[in-house]
Amino acid sequence: MNLDRFRLDQKVALITGGSRGIGRAIALCFAGAGADIVIAARKQEQLDATSSEITSLGRRCLAVTTHAAKVEALDNLIEKTMKEMGRIDILVCNAATNPQNCPVIETDEWAWDAVMNLNLKGYFLLSQRVAKIMKEQGGGVIIFVGSTNAFQPNRGVGVYSVSKAGEHALAQVLAYELGQFNIRVNTLAPGATRTDMTQPALKTGESMMEKEISKRTAMGRIAETEDMEGAALFLASDAGRFVTGQTLVVDGGAVTYIY
Ligand SMILES: NC(=O)c1ccc[n+]([C@@H]2O[C@H](COP(=O)([O-])OP(=O)(O)OC[C@H]3O[C@@H](n4cnc5c(N)ncnc54)[C@H](OP(=O)(O)O)[C@@H]3O)[C@@H](O)[C@H]2O)c1
Repeated sequence: MNLDRFRLDQKVALITGGSRGIGRAIALCFAGAGADIVIAARKQEQLDATSSEITSLGRRCLAVTTHAAKVEALDNLIEKTMKEMGRIDILVCNAATNPQNCPVIETDEWAWDAVMNLNLKGYFLLSQRVAKIMKEQGGGVIIFVGSTNAFQPNRGVGVYSVSKAGEHALAQVLAYELGQFNIRVNTLAPGATRTDMTQPALKTGESMMEKEISKRTAMGRIAETEDMEGAALFLASDAGRFVTGQTLVVDGGAVTYIY
C-alpha cells in the first residue's frame, strides 16, 4: 500500500469544537498530515491558542467563533470558510454537550433541547449544508464524532446517549444518500476520553469512575485525545476510501459499562 494515501495535502478540513479536547487533537493530526484547517467553537481565546499550534505546523488555519447549534452561525462559518479556503474536503462534526448529569426522568426540558439542538440538529444542519458544497466539488468526507454511549448508555448521560444514537443513525442515512456523489460519511465513536467534558466525572471519588472504566477496558485505561487521531485520519483520508456508513469504535476494548 502506498502510505501517501494517509496524507491530506491540498485538502481543507473543517472541525467543529476544534479548539479543545478530541476536536483539537483531530485538527492537529490533520494539519500534520498536510491539510489546511478551519476550527469552530464559541470561545475566541482557546480558538486562537489552537490556531497558533496549527500554523506552527506550517498549515493555514481559520478560526471562526461559532455556536454550532445556530443556523446563522453555521451559515457564517461556511461563508467564511469558502471565502478564505475556497473548498471543504473534510467535515468533522464534533462539538457536543451534556449540561445535566442526571437520570432521564429528572432531566429538564431546557437540557433536552440544548443537547438535541447541538449534538443532533447541529450535526444535521452543518452536514446538510456542507454536503451540498462537496457534491458540487465532486466528493468529500464527513465524520461524526459520536460515542459508545450511543449503544452502551451510561448512568447520568441518558439524554446525551439518545442524541448520540441519533447521530450514528444520521451518519448511516447520509452515507447511503451521498455515496452516489462520492461523499463518504462515517462515525468515530470514542469511549471515555480524558477531556474537559469528562473531567468533572473523572475527578469525583478520587477518580473512582476512571478506575472502574479502566478495569472494564481491555487496555486497562481510559483514552487520551491523541488515541482518536489514527482512526480519524483513516476515515478522513484516501486510506479509508471504501469505508462508508460505518461506526469505528475507539474505546480500548470496553467490555461492559457501569450502570
Ligand atoms: N470525552 C469523552 O469521554 C467522549 C467520549 C465519547 C464521545 N465524545 C464526543 O467527542 C466530542 C468532543 O468531546 P470532548 O470531550 O473533546 O469535549 P470538550 O473537551 O468539552 O470540547 C468540546 C469542544 O466543543 C466546543 N463547543 C462546545 N459547545 C459548543 C457550541 N455550542 N458551539 C460550538 N462549539 C462548541 C468547545 O469549545 P467552546 O466551549 O469554546 O465552544 C470545545 O472546542 C463530542 O461529540 C463528545 O460527545 C467524548
